[in-house]
Amino acid sequence: MRFFVVPAAALVTTVLAVTPVSARPDAPSPILTTPDARDTLSYAQPQVARVTHVDLNLAVDFRTKTIGGTAALDILGAPGAHEIVLDDNGLIISKITDSAGRSLPYQVGAHDEYKGAPLTVQIGAARRIIVTYRSGPEASALGWLSPALTAGKKKPYLYTQGQSINNRSWIPTQDSPGIRQSWTAKITVPSDLVAVMSGDRLTPKGVPAGRGRHSYRFRMDHNVPPYLIALAVGDLAFRPLGPRTGVYTEPSMLDRAARELSDTEKMVSTAEKLYGPYRWGRYDILVLPPSFPYGGMENPTLTFATPTIITGDKSNVDVIAHELAHSWSGNLVTNATWSDIWLNEGFTTYFENRIDEAVYGQARGATLADLSWDNLQRDLKEAKPDQTRLHGDPEGTFGELDYNKGATFLRTIEVAVGRPRWDAYLSSYFDRHAFQPQTTAGFLADLRANLIKGDKDLEARLDLDKWAYRPGLPANAIHIRSATLTKIDETLERVNSGAAMASVDPSRWSTQEWLRFLNGLPRKQTPARLAELDRDLHLSASNNPYVRSAWLVLAAQNRYEPAIASMAEFLPRVGRGLLIFPVYRALAGQGDWGRSIARRIYADARGNYHPTVIMTLDKLLGNAPAS
Ligand code: BES
Ligand code: ZN
Repeated sequence: MRFFVVPAAALVTTVLAVTPVSARPDAPSPILTTPDARDTLSYAQPQVARVTHVDLNLAVDFRTKTIGGTAALDILGAPGAHEIVLDDNGLIISKITDSAGRSLPYQVGAHDEYKGAPLTVQIGAARRIIVTYRSGPEASALGWLSPALTAGKKKPYLYTQGQSINNRSWIPTQDSPGIRQSWTAKITVPSDLVAVMSGDRLTPKGVPAGRGRHSYRFRMDHNVPPYLIALAVGDLAFRPLGPRTGVYTEPSMLDRAARELSDTEKMVSTAEKLYGPYRWGRYDILVLPPSFPYGGMENPTLTFATPTIITGDKSNVDVIAHELAHSWSGNLVTNATWSDIWLNEGFTTYFENRIDEAVYGQARGATLADLSWDNLQRDLKEAKPDQTRLHGDPEGTFGELDYNKGATFLRTIEVAVGRPRWDAYLSSYFDRHAFQPQTTAGFLADLRANLIKGDKDLEARLDLDKWAYRPGLPANAIHIRSATLTKIDETLERVNSGAAMASVDPSRWSTQEWLRFLNGLPRKQTPARLAELDRDLHLSASNNPYVRSAWLVLAAQNRYEPAIASMAEFLPRVGRGLLIFPVYRALAGQGDWGRSIARRIYADARGNYHPTVIMTLDKLLGNAPAS
């Protein structure tokens, strides 16, 4: 039996008129108890007592940069369970009570810099507890932006990033991807700002809450892993893109964002045709300010996306296909622990490519797949063998191998059994495991039971265990080649044997053609040749952030000083790790020359970045002021 406290009945009735929501949350999802499903990054002991529902009542305070209020947790306990262990990272807790307001004893254990600390609550017979708390000053999930870091420059902005284990810095719950929870929230913010979350948005307008504030209510009736609870607060406008799709962003970005994302509704219906119904109601996209650390984040019902994909030519909407695909791989079927993150990211990279191909045609699909192969080869070259296993260390898999080796694995199965059979299998897989955690072993067992079915020849051809558990790339890996990129290779050949850069015409290149070109240039270049490149292809001034990043890497690798101004302009204003880490790394790889430039730029940029990006760059460069 579980509790579910419904707010004021009258409110729910009006709400139902606005947004159709199911009457009650789903029954608790099962947890996995096999040894490979044990999450070493969480302190929770779900077999003793687990959280099944989180009800947040929080106010966002931009002055103190804290979120505070209460979290009411519904608990499912084993018979006789008298304590529950939650995850905590720097929360400032003032009290914990049962639902009658009686204080419950609790203790915060030893703090680990990455994992935070166990929060053990003596619940006695209580199966609902209320934690009164606020976030701490270093909350790793929270990106607090001053008005200067927004497009409008007038109002502050807040966004959260839960994956992988950041949400324990603002929500006291069991922060493990294998412990699914439904949730509800009431979020109070300044009246001139809008709050959005990764669930049904019950109060599109906000309800006055006094003292210049208003409140928004949200609910997620499906059980989700807690890293998928997300919040953003800012000066947001909304525009529909289709019957169940739309975009939120700052008003000045709305036109450009809506134009770039106009294929979103089609992507959703295409994805459904491939692998079954979209089960989350709406699919909206929030386009964030440029400090957002990722390309995108698959928060249910509301993908968070970097504005760096808005380049005016739709050439980066593969990021949207990716986040949308997570609505199946990741959000429906979820890695039980971060050691199996390839089940989220590899499946999604495969699925993403199938959406791209179906919406934009075979040539475009092949271009993206071929580029993913390039990335795979690059990572395999740079990684230590141990870092190339799909099932591996929760912190350790190298680069984007989870994505590209994982996707290549699934592509290899597809080619071996043929698309019709593979697609039917994959749809049934998502359906069989919907709203449940999964491990690598669980996937392989399912594949053997429902696709291979004892076919010894097929089993031998696939080499499944090698793919899943061994380093490197099995010999049966399928490489999709792109005719579009082969043309770029021909251009590269000409240029690399001395042709003038002015003979290259990139005026109609997509981002992917640019990347094949720039990354295909030999790493060692003369200053004269770099000057020619920059002059004829306008690289230092490129408005395409992918192009700018790839160029700055090449420039840094060659200690090309005329590009330093472009670095100093670009790096502080973009916070997306994938675009800025390679530039900082290339600089850091150039001894004192590069390190001092990197540290000088970073000193200026650090305050603009999300805490998780700061953590990575502090490690790379040290967080001392510029030397
Ligand atoms: N879920 C990831 C983002 C993520 C990964 C956050 C690991 C925290 C830890 C998201 O779906 C993603 O993969 N984003 C990519 C875009 C994609 C097209 C490869 C990104 O951020 O670049
Ligand atoms: Zn992803």
